[in-house]
Amino acid sequence: MIKIIMAAIANNNVIGKDNNLIWHLPADLRFFKQTTKGHTLIMGRKTFESLGNPLPHRDSLVITRNKEYTSDGITVFNTLESALEYSENKGLETVFILGGGEIYRQSMEIADKLIITEVHEAFDGDTYFPEIDPEIWEETSREEHNADDKNKYNFAFVQYERKQQR
Ligand SMILES: NC(=O)c1ccc[n+]([C@@H]2O[C@H](COP(=O)([O-])OP(=O)(O)OC[C@H]3O[C@@H](n4cnc5c(N)ncnc54)[C@H](OP(=O)(O)O)[C@@H]3O)[C@@H](O)[C@H]2O)c1
Repeated sequence: MIKIIMAAIANNNVIGKDNNLIWHLPADLRFFKQTTKGHTLIMGRKTFESLGNPLPHRDSLVITRNKEYTSDGITVFNTLESALEYSENKGLETVFILGGGEIYRQSMEIADKLIITEVHEAFDGDTYFPEIDPEIWEETSREEHNADDKNKYNFAFVQYERKQQR
């Protein structure tokens, strides 16, 4: 099963503030929807609550240490490992790891691929993406986009593959 981390990251590695996204880039939302449609998404409880609802046409696996946690339309796990095991046992070819900061930090070790939207702007925030170590990750594609009427910042869709076997 291929484990893909998907994130949108500012120049200064900020990914969120006050349990919310900071920027609004409709092109990135569209890209996110196209890429993840029909797939299984793993996310931390805070990211799930920040989204507010399970995303349609996707299976949402939510990780929390709270054994009582429930919410409509999601499957709850008490560890990241158990969510991955569940996905593996379902025979999934791919799973998307959707953050936030805490979950990214724990997933960098086990991810096979990173799909990153680089937002070419620095923002004030309280949640960060971990370092993408060039010793471990190789950039395999990059698509730059200029700001336009709807997308206020320059941005790039970037993919990385793991260089070395774990
Ligand atoms: N830019 C992006 O691409 C992007 C993507 C996703 C999120 N974000 C942003 O990131 C921020 C949220 O990130 P965050 O780091 O605060 O929270 P998070 O990673 O979304 O969720 C953290 C929560 O997940 C649970 N958790 C984490 N590790 C666990 C483990 N090993 N076992 C069991 N449960 C575990 C805990 O839930 P309990 O407290 O319930 O136990 C923990 O409080 C928001 O601002 C959001 O908008 C940005």
